[in-house]
Amino acid sequence: MKEKLQKIREEALAKIQASDNLEKLNEIRVAYLGKKGELTSVLKGMKNVSPEERPKVGQMVNEVRALIENAMEETKKALAAKAREEQLKREVIDVTLPAKKNNVGHRHPNTIALEEVERIFIGMGYEVIEGPEVEYDLYNFEKLNIPANHPAKDEQDTFYINDKIVLRTQTSSVQVRVMEQGKLPIRMIAPGRVFRSDEVDATHSPSFHQIEGLVIDKNITFADLKGTLAEFAKELFGEETKVKFRPHHFPFTEPSAEVDVTCFKCGGKGCRFCKGSGWIEILGCGMVHPHVLEMCGIDPNEYSGFAFGVGLERIALLKYEIDDMRLLYENDTRFLKQF
Ligand code: DAH
Repeated sequence: MKEKLQKIREEALAKIQASDNLEKLNEIRVAYLGKKGELTSVLKGMKNVSPEERPKVGQMVNEVRALIENAMEETKKALAAKAREEQLKREVIDVTLPAKKNNVGHRHPNTIALEEVERIFIGMGYEVIEGPEVEYDLYNFEKLNIPANHPAKDEQDTFYINDKIVLRTQTSSVQVRVMEQGKLPIRMIAPGRVFRSDEVDATHSPSFHQIEGLVIDKNITFADLKGTLAEFAKELFGEETKVKFRPHHFPFTEPSAEVDVTCFKCGGKGCRFCKGSGWIEILGCGMVHPHVLEMCGIDPNEYSGFAFGVGLERIALLKYEIDDMRLLYENDTRFLKQF
């Protein structure tokens, strides 16, 4: 019995020492200490041992078991430490590698241009107001003096939701909404998206942006309109910029004009940029038509005002010398990064 235990001890310890992974270690545990293991079977054979010998043999079995268990525990720890070390070696981080760049975006050229225009008008005491993109035909056309059969309605073909509701073709609809509220005087700009049933090309898009302006007060004259827009043009394009008012027609203003600014590229001498004329058209404007004032609940004998509408994309294209409007919508970061 003694020799047998001795043999078990030596064999088991040698195997434990030689094992190089946790599975092997577990197999050894089962082989010696498991239910059918060698040491367990020695215990089962105790009944054949004489009663005097039993305590001694029992003690020896326990000693061998403790030895094997200790050896296994230690080997297990050593294996775990080795595995961890190998993992650390494998996952080593090279701090000298270049870092991943975090790409932070920035404002779109349209937004930069809009914020510039807003800054200028806020500086002159204007409020910035927003109106809905899905609008009543009544506000987009009718109350702006464009009745159902008016030819101006053809020029601004739009997307109809039904026969009373359209995607607005112009931010001028916000003029009506603000005047109808009845709070006077008014000094506001209204930037926003507008829609027209137009084919896409270098200067057209079915969706673009306008900035509307409206001033209503007592004793507002065309001189106020001229002074305001001259100041706006200087702020936007430079101190030397001059403005020119060309007579035009808009149904909701009388008189109406289109405004040109001196070409900021050649200063008015004429170049490729202004197609040789020295002037660049930037907006439409006029004195609010008395009939429009009346339809919006304002007495034209007491109040007068002016209005203007600027194409935001046009301003962005001019300011940044971009020659194709489509570039503003494609979201190609190689283009956008330049602003
Ligand atoms: N709404 C006009 C358009 O889309 C632009 C415009 C012209 C607006 C004259 C105005 C204005 O407020 O007075 O073509």
